[in-house]
Amino acid sequence: MKRVFSGVRPTGRSHIGNYLGALQNWVKLQNEYQCIYCIVDIHALTTLEDTSGLQRNIHEMALDLLGVGIDPAKSILFVQSHVPEVMQLHTLLSMVTPLGWLLRVPTFKEKARLQPQNVNYGLVGYPVLMTSDIVLYKAEVVPVGEDQLPHLELAREIARRFNILFGDTFPEPAAKLTEFPLVVGLDGKEKMSKQLGNDIEIALSEEETTARVMTAVTDPARRYRTDTGHPEICNVYHLLEYFSPVKPDEIAAQCRLAQIGCVDCKKLLAQRINATLRPARERRAALSTDPQRVKDILADGARRAAVIARETLQEVKQKMGLI
Ligand code: AMP
Ligand code: TRP
Repeated sequence: MKRVFSGVRPTGRSHIGNYLGALQNWVKLQNEYQCIYCIVDIHALTTLEDTSGLQRNIHEMALDLLGVGIDPAKSILFVQSHVPEVMQLHTLLSMVTPLGWLLRVPTFKEKARLQPQNVNYGLVGYPVLMTSDIVLYKAEVVPVGEDQLPHLELAREIARRFNILFGDTFPEPAAKLTEFPLVVGLDGKEKMSKQLGNDIEIALSEEETTARVMTAVTDPARRYRTDTGHPEICNVYHLLEYFSPVKPDEIAAQCRLAQIGCVDCKKLLAQRINATLRPARERRAALSTDPQRVKDILADGARRAAVIARETLQEVKQKMGLI
């Protein structure tokens, strides 16, 4: 069976951008592939100066993942640093990765701009560590949001280069996008992200979700209730499309004729988000009362992942002449 690998950084609770852009796919793929899902704590260190909340965030992320439907009976769910072989592979792959490839990666340039006081060495190597995650398990399919495509491109280049230099070892991994590969945040401008504060967390209560949705920016040209709207440029409408089982054409038509206002539309969106996430939220709440169960699931995942990781690392070391 083909293998799937994906990772998420434990930077707090995940949001509906993560859900629509990636996690939805993670759940679906469990029935077709051998899936390995990872909470990438080492990657999180590249942007954290204060790491005191890391354990808490890992726990919250595990709750989110198990809540949305990652099933430990079907998939491997683990924490990156619990299988430390990835750090060895990272060092070895760094020897076959030209520095120029890394300095050109757009996310590196973006992060260097966002944290000029902390442009650390790990940040440059971020895509090499991500490649190591994937190829350590010889994964072929990587479900991610659109923002990760440059990283995947690099992962393929590194795998290809290793294969040319040391013989065929790694499959070249391919990204798998969802129907909504880039979710825009409540500001209606930038990608939804925790750091930008424009997100809706999966774990919010229904009331909190409604309050967050009410802050969303809609069609900027629609200033008064009587102004006609343009759903095609309205992020609230796009989100409504994501969360509705059928395309909400009727709403679009009413908006264009000013028969429905932005507040009504937001109320509808909040209802749709709440209805969609209700089962996940219930599962999450139930699990949150049993932290030991979450620890056990992650420990079991790490044990199963380590078996594959050790085998690949051994092969890589042999091919590179280390043993
Ligand atoms: P991160 O929280 O950045 O580690 O992202 C975890 C996963 O969610 C990755 O596959 C991202 O590509 C995806 N993701 C994050 N933010 C968004 C967004 N605003 N829209 C779509 N996908 C996203
Ligand atoms: N870089 C990814 C993100 O920020 C997280 C990640 C780390 C990942 N390792 C991975 C995703 C391996 C897919 C495969 O979202």
